[in-house]
Amino acid sequence: HGICLKQPLYLLASRLLIFESTSFVSTSFMPTLFNNRVLKWFDQHGRHDLPWQIEPSPYRVWVSEIMLQQTQVNTVIPYYQRFMQRFPTVEALAEAETDQVLHLWTGLGYYARARNLHKTAQLIANRYKGEFPHSVEQLKQLPGIGQSTAGAIAALSMHIKAPILDGNVKRVLTRFHAIEGWPEQSKVKSQLWILAEALLPKHDIAKYTQAMMDLGATVCTRSKPLCSDCPLHRDCEAFKQDLIASIPGKKASKTLPVKSVTLLILQNEAGEILLEKRPPSGIWGSLWSLPEGLPASSNETEAPGSSHLPVRVKGAKPVELDKIRHTFSHFHLDITPMHLGFASNSNAVMDSQSWLWYPLDHSLEVGLAAPVKKLLSQLANGSVTKAG
Ligand code: ADE
Repeated sequence: HGICLKQPLYLLASRLLIFESTSFVSTSFMPTLFNNRVLKWFDQHGRHDLPWQIEPSPYRVWVSEIMLQQTQVNTVIPYYQRFMQRFPTVEALAEAETDQVLHLWTGLGYYARARNLHKTAQLIANRYKGEFPHSVEQLKQLPGIGQSTAGAIAALSMHIKAPILDGNVKRVLTRFHAIEGWPEQSKVKSQLWILAEALLPKHDIAKYTQAMMDLGATVCTRSKPLCSDCPLHRDCEAFKQDLIASIPGKKASKTLPVKSVTLLILQNEAGEILLEKRPPSGIWGSLWSLPEGLPASSNETEAPGSSHLPVRVKGAKPVELDKIRHTFSHFHLDITPMHLGFASNSNAVMDSQSWLWYPLDHSLEVGLAAPVKKLLSQLANGSVTKAG
């Protein structure tokens, strides 16, 4: 594999960089050949009717990109549609209560995304007069918008020539060039950004950006990729060298630690459940959750672990329900739901910002932690089971 001098300089630069930091990687391939094939493939095989492709304004594209950051397209679609119906403009979102935003986010996870979305909407409405800035550099300054999301918003909604590097694109590029190692490693990632930039087409940037994501999501999948359907396979180094299964490389795995918590279930006479607002940072930040049980102290005369609650528990005979495991990116949380029985209403709940009685018909619009929402639904339909 010699370096061909007919290649543009930027591609030579990227080859040299790759040559320097890893083993030799052949990229004797013209960007126009690459992007033409991707664009042509998109016309026939790409996705053309995703909800955010209809009237792709910066606002609509931004919301979709934030939802899609950690979540699959099929999961996102109904959330996206409800969100757009409720907040059709950036001004509507800016004026919302954080609780309303979190409510529409319940179940999508990674709630910092929703809080940043709300903050950014307020910045756009107030500082930018409702108009998104027209450059990647400025978009990147906004809460929750990183380099790749800024590139996607710029390319998809403003037709600015900017690269993206999401998980889909990382897979296509690492395989095409047989780049080994975990793509999140900074040395691998900086090569990928150079390649992503070098391969951009001179025209049709929105189409190309969507095409790369679609190619990664539907053909160049992590497991069982459909290489024979891929417009790039004849020049894909991983395909040619039979390295598809090992590229992209994985992070060295580590087993997740396990934490445990008891969540207390208390009902008032109306059957409503006592919820407590979580602190703004940490897991489920600012979401509503069942109160946590404290380790029972020896001199406690009330129900175990309930001394911090704003209500008195009546005739408590706690019932332990089946444990639920909820896995976060960095630990497993084993939840023991504990039914404590009934309590009377009290001013301490009525007058408080951090406690509320939650009706089991879900008629109150608040952001709930996902396993709490599930547990409340089970309580509502009587499908809870006692442990043991
Ligand atoms: N993942 C991230 N952005 C996407 C988009 N616009 N379409 C499909 N999948 C995506």
